[in-house]
Amino acid sequence: MANRGGFSSRLGFIMAAAGSAVGLGNIWGFPYEVGQGGGAAFVVMYLIFCFVLCYPVMVTEIAIGRKTQKNPVGAFNALGYKKWNFVGKMGIFSGFLILSFYNVIAGWAFGYVYEMAIGNFDIATHFSEFVQDVFKVGAYGMVFMATTAYVVSKGISGGIEKAAKFLMPSLLIMILLIVGYALTLPNAMAGVEFYLVPDFSKITTSVVISALGQAFFSLSLGMGALITYGSYVNKKENIVSAAALITLADVGIAVLAGMMIFPLIGFMTDGAMDNVGSGPGLIFETLPQIFGTIGGTLGVVAGTLFFVLLCFAALTSTVSLLEVPVAYVVDEKNIRRSRAVWLVAGAIFLIGIPSLLGNGYSDFFTNFMTYPGSETATNFLGFVNSLANDSLLPLGGCLIVFFAAHVWKKHNLDEELSHGAPNYKGSFLQKYLNFAVGYLAPAVLGFIFVMTVLETYFGISIF
Ligand code: PHE
Repeated sequence: MANRGGFSSRLGFIMAAAGSAVGLGNIWGFPYEVGQGGGAAFVVMYLIFCFVLCYPVMVTEIAIGRKTQKNPVGAFNALGYKKWNFVGKMGIFSGFLILSFYNVIAGWAFGYVYEMAIGNFDIATHFSEFVQDVFKVGAYGMVFMATTAYVVSKGISGGIEKAAKFLMPSLLIMILLIVGYALTLPNAMAGVEFYLVPDFSKITTSVVISALGQAFFSLSLGMGALITYGSYVNKKENIVSAAALITLADVGIAVLAGMMIFPLIGFMTDGAMDNVGSGPGLIFETLPQIFGTIGGTLGVVAGTLFFVLLCFAALTSTVSLLEVPVAYVVDEKNIRRSRAVWLVAGAIFLIGIPSLLGNGYSDFFTNFMTYPGSETATNFLGFVNSLANDSLLPLGGCLIVFFAAHVWKKHNLDEELSHGAPNYKGSFLQKYLNFAVGYLAPAVLGFIFVMTVLETYFGISIF
């Protein structure tokens, strides 16, 4: 066990876990989901899910990881419940799927670094051609995956921790500057209104489903990423407060990302807000324009820097996604870390190829399937994305909390959480977490999961 590695400091863990959470999910995914989900009403649902349901799941994952010092499959075995390790296996499967399409989008972001550097702000209106150039974006993706593998091969405190500590704060500053600038543009307020003034009539079942999926995805929950990171945390760490900081950082960056995009859309549409729902291309079709309006060298520098930082945010997430299957292979199959990393990364890259091709290049993967009750086809990337976010992650989260409270038992969870948190036992927070982990989260997550499957895959709506 001694050479498994671990985080070297409290800040290092928080930064790495926040680095896992903050990524494309916040800056690419959140604004487009808000756009498609009707604006502020989606934001409200998302915030409720993050704090009320997801925070308890996060605490539980980290506690299981630290208690067992194992990967998500080994963790269930170590606690003595081998039968439950299917939850960990499902998590590893979800991680495979997520990284396969995530890396494609990270490749786009990486490509945009170059486009910004040469001042090609027009790329905003040529996004669909850009993603169809599959050899080019495929090469960007390959470089991205290789970089991820390299960082993971360096192990925990060497690679992940060092990178996260410096890059996360830089990204935050950059976003704040862009928000400040975006708010000065004409018609920015139309965007702010769309984003922050809720119209509750817009809350439909599908808004609820995608807000929950987005919350899980954005917080890196439900697949054991935080069981894995938790396994490198030492006993002096206060898990409940660390998880609170991670949740706040993640939600904060997502909310700020919206404050960056929606005022810009207000500006671009003269306040009409009519292309907010444009989907996964949203940030790639809007952001370059903000740098275009800044213009000149400053625009080039700002645009390049922004996409560089976005790539780093994505990298701290891809690293955590790759770490999960790698930790599994290293712990359970006794393969050397340096070898395991490249094998797994290569396999995931291959699984990502349909997601790469399904953006106009291959008709089959572009019009991959049509959900019952829907008129338009979804591409392969969209299909895998929503399968993971909306179904697999919430189901994983539901099973993890149910397991912790009713199989492993609450007093064991409490015991683990009180290491590093001397005042935890007897506190209000303990009472809330007991209730949330034991009843609220399993019930609500279980219910929404059933609803999601019925609605998405069978076209049956219960409401
Ligand atoms: N949370 C990451 C993001 O928002 C994605 C992720 C999901 C990372 C699941 C790890 C596990 O970009």
